[in-house]
This record gives sequence, structure tokens and C-alpha cells, in this order.
Amino acid sequence: MPQPTDTLQRPLRDLRISVTDRCNFRCTYCMPKGVFGRDYKFLPRDQLLTFEEITLVATAAARLGVNKIRITGGEPLMRAGLPDLVSMLAPIDGIEDLTMTTNGSILARKAEELAEAGLSRVSVSLDSIDDATFREMNDVDFGVAGVLEGIEAAAAAGLGPVKINAVVKRGLNDHGIVELAGHFRNTGHIVRFIEYMDVGTTNGWRLDDVVSADEIHRAISAEFPLEPVEAAYHGEVATRYRYVDGSGEIGIIASVTAPFCGDCTRLRLSAEGSAYTCLFASAGSDLRALIRSGADDDSIAKALTTIWEGRSDRYSEQRAEGTAGWERIEMSYIGG
Ligand code: GTP
Ligand code: 5AD
Ligand code: SF4
Ligand code: SF4
Repeated sequence: MPQPTDTLQRPLRDLRISVTDRCNFRCTYCMPKGVFGRDYKFLPRDQLLTFEEITLVATAAARLGVNKIRITGGEPLMRAGLPDLVSMLAPIDGIEDLTMTTNGSILARKAEELAEAGLSRVSVSLDSIDDATFREMNDVDFGVAGVLEGIEAAAAAGLGPVKINAVVKRGLNDHGIVELAGHFRNTGHIVRFIEYMDVGTTNGWRLDDVVSADEIHRAISAEFPLEPVEAAYHGEVATRYRYVDGSGEIGIIASVTAPFCGDCTRLRLSAEGSAYTCLFASAGSDLRALIRSGADDDSIAKALTTIWEGRSDRYSEQRAEGTAGWERIEMSYIGG
């Protein structure tokens, strides 16, 4: 099957699959309690794609050139039986990298099973190494220790190098950037600092809240000198640096101050089976109806081709140009 390119000549290479819109955290920048409260209506089970349905879409996507799959949420480990999904996705022809983004809270219990099922590696979100700050940010009083346990279990199970994602928000955790970096020196884990983005419409994002990649780099290199590292692959979203003294590597993801839409080869599949061509899309294309009407691999591949060929998204660049401004899907719904 021919491999599609979009209207900006970008190929399709990554599929990010959200398996649930639920999460046991309420990070204030992602699922603020005021919106995602006790009576918030999450998707009912019968509206979620089954593992078989997800696998069908992934198989079709692989035929179109996808070689990398990332499982996301919400919190993916909230979905019962997740290792079964991993074991269904891992053997798909053409998939070279099967990873997961998790908050790490129940990873210690699952790491081994996930590795055995065929997961290649994990990224764990941890915004601060300071316990009080972290508890405040996840807003469910979950301590740092539990996440660190998850990270160590993942590394021990062979899911490393573990990437640790930290969203930096001014006035909230920016005072702890250097401490966080320092904590993971000499561990083999790679901390990636992420500029706070205006995903969704509930987090009250303001440009003033963004701590720029430059600022982050300056703060860390003042303490621990850094030198640049070549990108690991074309289109890598993180800019890589290593400590001059050999104590490890970090990444900085400058999605606001240095957008990377030009190389964006990512398609997102929501938990209810809609395909989104951008993290900041306002609408997706429903694949679930097609799947449930009995579509096979071929027809799903055709539908994906049509979606991809019509794609023109470059939201982060438009934000930088000041020409973006539309309703956006929530991050917890579509995954990071
Ligand atoms: P690796 O394969 O480990 O390099 O993964 P990755 O670089 O794709 O990283 P990951 O999926 O963990 O993404 C890290 C963060 O980068 C996300 O949480 C987002 O904040 C941001 N990000 C990832 N993909 C996109 C994207 O397509 N657009 C924008 N604007 N931000 C993105
Ligand atoms: N800006 C940047 N990154 C975000 N994430 C969630 N919300 C935002 C935001 N507003 C990150 C999480 C996690 C991944 C799923 O997405 O920290 O690493
Ligand atoms: Fe949950 Fe991740 Fe969102 Fe935090 S950032 S609320 S851990 S999905
Ligand atoms: Fe890709 Fe949209 Fe992110 Fe740009 S803003 S990198 S097009 S997902």
C-alpha cells in the first residue's frame, strides 16, 4: 500500500494511542479538579475501542508507514488488562518502537508484565522532585517516592533508558528545575523539560506561565555544564544535551518557543476511536463507526490515507505567528 504524505509533504510515522480518558491524578495544568470533578462524565466502556479494534487500526497504520507506537491516556495503566494490548501491538509488522507515557503511580506493579508483553520502553511524567511541590501539582497528594519506585522498576525490567517528562510552569515548579536534573544525573534516566503548552481550554494557559527552553537551559548549565547532542532520529521533539562531565543526558522540548510542526509525523487515536491529526485539533475523524460496520484492514488503511492526505495542521507554528485561536481538544482525552 502506498505511503501517504500530507499537504505539507510530511509522512505518517508515529501513532499515539489513547486507551482511556481517565487518570488517577488531577494535575492542575491538565485535569483541573474544578472541571474534572466527582460528577465529570468520562467515556463509558462501550464507547472505548476494544483492544482488537485498536490493533486493527495500528495494523493498518503500520502498512502506511507507521513504525513507532506510543500508548497514552489519561493514564494508560488505568485501563484493565493493558499488558494484553501491548502483546497484541508488539508483533505488528513494521513496528520498531512500542512505548508508553505514564504517570508512574502504578508502574512498579506492572513494569515486568509490560516488558514481558513486548513494551520497548516508558516515559514517566514527574514534574518535581520536591515532594510538596509534586503533591500540589498532581493535586491528589501522591508522593514522589511512589513514582521513583515505578521508574526503578521499569529500568530493572529492561524498559530503559527511562525518559522522565517534566512540564515546567512558572511560579509552580520552575524553582526545582536544577534539583530535578541533578537528582537524575548518573542514573541513566533522561529528564526532559517541557515548555508548558496551551492544550485544551480548561487549564487557563497564559504565555507568561511558559518557562522557555532558553531559560531552562541557562539554569541547568549554570550548575552542570552542558553540550549539545545530535538528534537520535529525524523529527525528534526534544533537543538533546549531555553533561560535560559525563553524568548523563537531558532533553528540552520547546514546543512553544521553537515549534517543530515541520517534522511532525504523528497521528493520534483517541480512546473512543477518533483520529486526530494534531494535538491541538478541534475535531477528529470517527473511525469507530467504520470499524464497527465491519471494515477490514484495507478499508481502514484507505480511511487513514484520506485523513492523512488532507492534513495541513501546524498549530504550534501558527501560535508563534499569532494566527491560531480555535477550540481545542483536552490533552487528557487525546494523550500527550
Ligand atoms: P521519544 O520517542 O521518547 O523521543 O518520545 P517523544 O519525544 O515523542 O516524547 P513524548 O511522546 O514523551 O512527548 C513528550 C512531550 O512533548 C509531550 O508530553 C508533549 O508535551 C510534547 N509533544 C509530543 N508530541 C508533540 C506534538 O506532536 N506536538 C506538540 N506541540 N507537542 C508534542
Ligand atoms: N503542556 C505540556 N505538556 C503537557 N502534558 C500535559 N499537559 C501539558 C501541557 N499543558 C504532558 C504531561 C505528560 C504528557 C502526557 O503530557 O506532563 O508528560
Ligand atoms: Fe493525568 Fe498525565 Fe494529565 Fe497529570 S498530566 S492529570 S498524570 S494525564
Ligand atoms: Fe504536530 Fe500539531 Fe504538535 Fe505541530 S502542534 S507538532 S502539527 S501535533
